[in-house]
Amino acid sequence: MPEDTTLRDAADAADFRLGAAVAADPLRTDAGYWTSLRRGFNTVTAENAMKMGPMRPEPGVYDFTDADAVANFAEAHDMALRGHTLVWHNQLPDWFQEWDYTDDQLAAFLRDHVHTVAGRYRGTVEAWDVVNEAVADDGTMRDSVWYDALGERYLDDAFRWANDVAPDADLFYNDYGADAVNEKSDAIYELLEGMLDRGVPVDGVGLQMHALDGVPDPESVAENVRRFSDLGLDVHVTEMDVAYPEADAPENHRERQAEDYRDVLDVCLAEGVDTLVVWGVRDSDSWIPEWFPHVTEDPLLFDASNDPKPAYHALKERLEDTD
Ligand code: XIL
Repeated sequence: MPEDTTLRDAADAADFRLGAAVAADPLRTDAGYWTSLRRGFNTVTAENAMKMGPMRPEPGVYDFTDADAVANFAEAHDMALRGHTLVWHNQLPDWFQEWDYTDDQLAAFLRDHVHTVAGRYRGTVEAWDVVNEAVADDGTMRDSVWYDALGERYLDDAFRWANDVAPDADLFYNDYGADAVNEKSDAIYELLEGMLDRGVPVDGVGLQMHALDGVPDPESVAENVRRFSDLGLDVHVTEMDVAYPEADAPENHRERQAEDYRDVLDVCLAEGVDTLVVWGVRDSDSWIPEWFPHVTEDPLLFDASNDPKPAYHALKERLEDTD
């Protein structure tokens, strides 16, 4: 029996941005993918298409084909678009070798990239993950091409450059493993506090929420959200998936997964987080099985046959339950 209302309808009615990371290929070719995407979500993030490597096939050449496909889909279906990501240490172009550049040239290279990409999607991308994963797991600054060449100021610069060309977009710092209060989120808190003190135009923090052993303690996630909100920052959940170590996954883990998704949505609704993005549409699209083969393989809201899972229904019920 067809549903009367969808998860997307519930999100729209609650004025909540519920998103999915999407890939350009199935968007073009796979009707089932389309259908699930439209049924579940009112927001999209490009899973890979807006990263530097995929966008820059050769020196001096930008290829916006896939990124535009995602942006056009979002526009055609009245979905918000999150941009991901302008500055990262991963998925750099194959041809890019840092030793080909002086530090000044690297700064100019990065400025050109941020200006070009954020400028192209000005007015289209509502929120940008400007800098991704700049902090290491122990809370120190991560070694990266950008940090090596420019030091911590690369973050300030990146946000200022993005703000030059996309002043209306909300500019986010995004990271993983910092969803609850812990050593890493402490470090990110200090980093962002310092940037705000220096007048850097950072608007928000993205908590990725790749949950590989169920979600972290919701109380601690709520406390973490509150402290960033108290700094004046918006908080988004940007890349959620929920898995469990295969060796001791809960019995009936899809029910547990539904509770875990709902717990995080609860925190969002209680703490003024208006955006939650899931990192893929169907389990068969997820990056998790390839990257983390030791965990359960079904971290998302739809199964491989495009059927909605308990987590889909749990989020829908919770969104229908808002005033
Ligand atoms: C992942 C994609 O899902 C994969 O397809 C790709 O091979 C590697 O990157 N943190 C991020 C995302 O910010 O960009 C990553 O996406 C997942 C971890």
